[in-house]
Amino acid sequence: MLVVKNAKLIVQGKPVLRHILIENGKIHNIVKSLPDKKIRIVDAQKNFVIPGMIDCHVHLRDMNLFHKEDFLTGTKAAAAGGVTTVLDMPNSDPQTITLHALAQKRIVAKKAIVNYGFHFGCTPESDHHELKKVKNIASTKVYMNASTGNMGIEDTTLIKIIFENSRMLSVHAESEKVPVALSLAKKTKKRVYLCHLSLQEEVEYVRTYKKKYPQQEVFAEVCPHHLFLTEKDVQHLKGLGMMKPSLKTKQDQDALWKGIYDGTIDTIGSDHAPHTLSEKNDIACCPFGVPGLETTLPLLLDAVNQGKISLTHVVQLTSRNPAKIFGIKNKGYLKPRYDADIVILDMQKKKRIENKKLYTKCKWSPFAGKTLQGWPILTLVKGKIIYQDGLLFETPAEEIHYDQL
Ligand code: DOR
Ligand code: ZN
Repeated sequence: MLVVKNAKLIVQGKPVLRHILIENGKIHNIVKSLPDKKIRIVDAQKNFVIPGMIDCHVHLRDMNLFHKEDFLTGTKAAAAGGVTTVLDMPNSDPQTITLHALAQKRIVAKKAIVNYGFHFGCTPESDHHELKKVKNIASTKVYMNASTGNMGIEDTTLIKIIFENSRMLSVHAESEKVPVALSLAKKTKKRVYLCHLSLQEEVEYVRTYKKKYPQQEVFAEVCPHHLFLTEKDVQHLKGLGMMKPSLKTKQDQDALWKGIYDGTIDTIGSDHAPHTLSEKNDIACCPFGVPGLETTLPLLLDAVNQGKISLTHVVQLTSRNPAKIFGIKNKGYLKPRYDADIVILDMQKKKRIENKKLYTKCKWSPFAGKTLQGWPILTLVKGKIIYQDGLLFETPAEEIHYDQL
């Protein structure tokens, strides 16, 4: 048995000190006094302890895009960033649009050191019958706007067929595509996860829609770059500030925060989309996307320290809601019988984001040079320490499973 002792947990809005007993990768119990049994101990030293982040939106590349990132380097970045589960997007090379391609990806993903799952994809050319046959995926991802990987679909009739043949949808829909996606959700009675909202008009549309159709399950994600950068930052970041959706105005950013505060926004996902520095510095054909796995939670913890958001709300957006939305079994809470995916935070620790110290293969961040207060100092995946004070322990992890929602 392993015990995380002196863990500060928030119970009913109040911090309490407890010991978390872990057995066979699961939380066995959470207690006030230490058991006498022979045990291994990790001392949380009265630091906050939270369920690891579940990042619903990452691009781990690998295979033919191995030079940008692979499942080992990407999940090392995750471990250092307090992320214990990742959901990988299908715009890889090969694209995850056939059962065969998914099987191939499952093989390369075996080197991941955090829990992982997959979104399945489709293109105008792909066989939508595969959607009915595919097993154990988080969702079908539909690109309604052009983006990296050429998976954009224009034809609304085809998108409707894709919706009908899927259990759950994740959608890249910008601006006027948001109403189109939500009207299809309603027509087909499907659950829809809207990726990376970035505009005020999108948040307002979703807010009104959720009020009008409370029975319709619609969820919205925002990304750290839209919460902490604006279009003004593109002046100095140049290619490193280019992603889809693009950085927006301060007014849009304020609308995203408002959406977080009033519950219109359900999750924060990194949209970790690594490209090499030389690719990004080629302004003539700069690919879109920024890495984010190891900076998303620290940026949010820094915002907690600044009084911008509560730690409980951060946990809800990064762990509890992702588990609920995608029906990820036994995750999102620190409770008995739940997986021991646990992160210890040092809310006092100040650290500067430095490119050369990052674990992502691309070795850069749009936030490089920023000093943040509040960092993960220890990450456990199913009861195994994979990250502690800057050191990584490469233990292979497993694919996650979903409840039938
Ligand atoms: O900026 C982006 N990069 N947006 C996307 O939708 C895809 C991603 C990528 O894979 O590089
Ligand atoms: Zn993405």
